[in-house]
Amino acid sequence: MEEARQTMGMGIKPLLRVLSGQREAVPPIWMMRQAGRYLPEYRAVRERAGGFLDLCFNPELAAEVTLQPIKRFDFDAAILFSDILVMPLALGRAVTFHAGEGPRLEPLADAAAIDALLPAIDPSVVGPVYETVRRVRVALDPQKTLIGFCGAPWTVATYMVAGHGTPDQAPARLFAYRDPDNFQRLIDRLVAGSIEYLVGQLKAGADCIQIFDTWAGVLPPMEFERWCIRPTRAIIDGVRAQVPGAKVIGFPRGAGSKLPDYVVQTAVNGVGIDWTVELDFARDCAQNLVAVQGNVDPLALLAGGAALDREVDAVMAALSGGPFIFNLGHGILPPTPIAHVEQMLRRVRG
Ligand code: CP3
Repeated sequence: MEEARQTMGMGIKPLLRVLSGQREAVPPIWMMRQAGRYLPEYRAVRERAGGFLDLCFNPELAAEVTLQPIKRFDFDAAILFSDILVMPLALGRAVTFHAGEGPRLEPLADAAAIDALLPAIDPSVVGPVYETVRRVRVALDPQKTLIGFCGAPWTVATYMVAGHGTPDQAPARLFAYRDPDNFQRLIDRLVAGSIEYLVGQLKAGADCIQIFDTWAGVLPPMEFERWCIRPTRAIIDGVRAQVPGAKVIGFPRGAGSKLPDYVVQTAVNGVGIDWTVELDFARDCAQNLVAVQGNVDPLALLAGGAALDREVDAVMAALSGGPFIFNLGHGILPPTPIAHVEQMLRRVRG
């Protein structure tokens, strides 16, 4: 019965229809970092949980904050509340978050540290994440999409090598230039771990996944091919070998003119575009191939008013004629007023 409805296209969630290449009259909408500090209800739960990682590993509270933006804004998708730096933890590295400081990891400096990574992801780390997915699945309206995610190997490696966020990702880039064989081994471990992690999320009830490559934009073309495109393709092939037809959104932030190559060579179903991408280029060189997702400037959302209306209208005019998921060009900023999110939603949904 369910299968018959799906074949008729009625039971399929709008966001998944878009990832199959169809256009929706009103695009499905969600926001990167939609569960976060701009929401008072998030700050309240975060306070109760203790540290940020305590919240990530508490399935009851993580499910609650995952659902908060759906309850408040009726978004079309929930994204699992977790973090891309769960992966280094699951491979046996130390990761901590201190308020106002960002993440701190034990820097990964040499081949010996790569050898010491766990051979498979630690079930005691990823188990609570899968439990969060199961809880959200049960509570979420069946017409809404649940998005699982991981960080792309390159972006996760930039944090593992440096031990913290960096403005230019120089430590990982230098490692890759000086010792490409060992850097490749690190990337391969992240690929294997990410396949297992994403398959676990899909089996727990995620409808599709997003791969965040936040720092893809710093790589020159040959390095982009090797450290962004190839590992992403390997993850997608590995996931689809276990979950046939799994739907994947890639977010290679800063890829710019390399977006068409990324789309074709990774076999993503949708591509997230950041706010620096020209809209005509997004339409003619990416949306002609797959669904696109984006790309309102988070600062325009923070500004609100006429600037936000202009930005929303331009994005809609350029991209709503094809398979399109409305989103920001990167995560929502903590000081963003809730009224601006409501203004954006009214403008998109009419
Ligand atoms: O999108 C969502 O709402 C889902 C949850 C999510 C978080 N982080 C929660 C989070 C997702 C998908 C991420 C991804 C993530 N994490 C990325 C890739 C996407 C991007 O935004 O670029 C990266 C690079 C990270 C690593 C990370 N996590 C950093 C550098 C920081 C500190 C900076 C900051 O914003 O505080 C985090 C912390 C983090 N991850 C917070 C949240 C809600 C804030 C922590 C808090 O509540 O104190």
